[in-house]
Amino acid sequence: MMSQSAVADGGEDIAANAERRWAVVVALIVVLLIGLMVFTGVHWAAMPPSRVETIDPSTLHVSGEFVESNLGTAIGSDGKVVVRLIAQQYSFEPQCIVVPSEMPVTFRGTSTDAIHGFVIGTTNANVMLVPGFIATFTTTFRKTGEHLMPCHEYCGTGHGAMWAHVQVIAPEAFLARVSGGRKATCVSG
Ligand code: CUA
Repeated sequence: MMSQSAVADGGEDIAANAERRWAVVVALIVVLLIGLMVFTGVHWAAMPPSRVETIDPSTLHVSGEFVESNLGTAIGSDGKVVVRLIAQQYSFEPQCIVVPSEMPVTFRGTSTDAIHGFVIGTTNANVMLVPGFIATFTTTFRKTGEHLMPCHEYCGTGHGAMWAHVQVIAPEAFLARVSGGRKATCVSG
């Protein structure tokens, strides 16, 4: 039969071990949380910030900013490069977008029907297009080149075939193309 003190000693050991185990668990949780904070902070700092405005999707084609003649790339009255585009099942309008490299480019997009989204090649240009909202973000393309711009949000049976093309061209070539207030258009090649 165990004495009273032996039982008490055993109990202390068990308590001390349990405390140590929990200390390790808590330390791991703290390390995990700090890791998450650092990861999300760095991750979002690498993304262009986006914000949203509202718009009536039923009158998009009829009037306002997103009428067909206003879609595409243009230089605004403030001298900034703006791309306006619409997503609909199952295409983007315009189908090909021209942007300059090494200049800030602001995208303004919305959807007429389902939720769509796009990402431009391997760049950080990545956004959701939700009916009723204008998604906007500004980014700068470092290099010239051609990118595919697929829809990255499942939007129906034609989702897999929904994409546009993006041509990033040198700033001088871009400015020549938009001179006189013209819309920049893609050159097939
Ligand atoms: Cu549009 Cu998927």
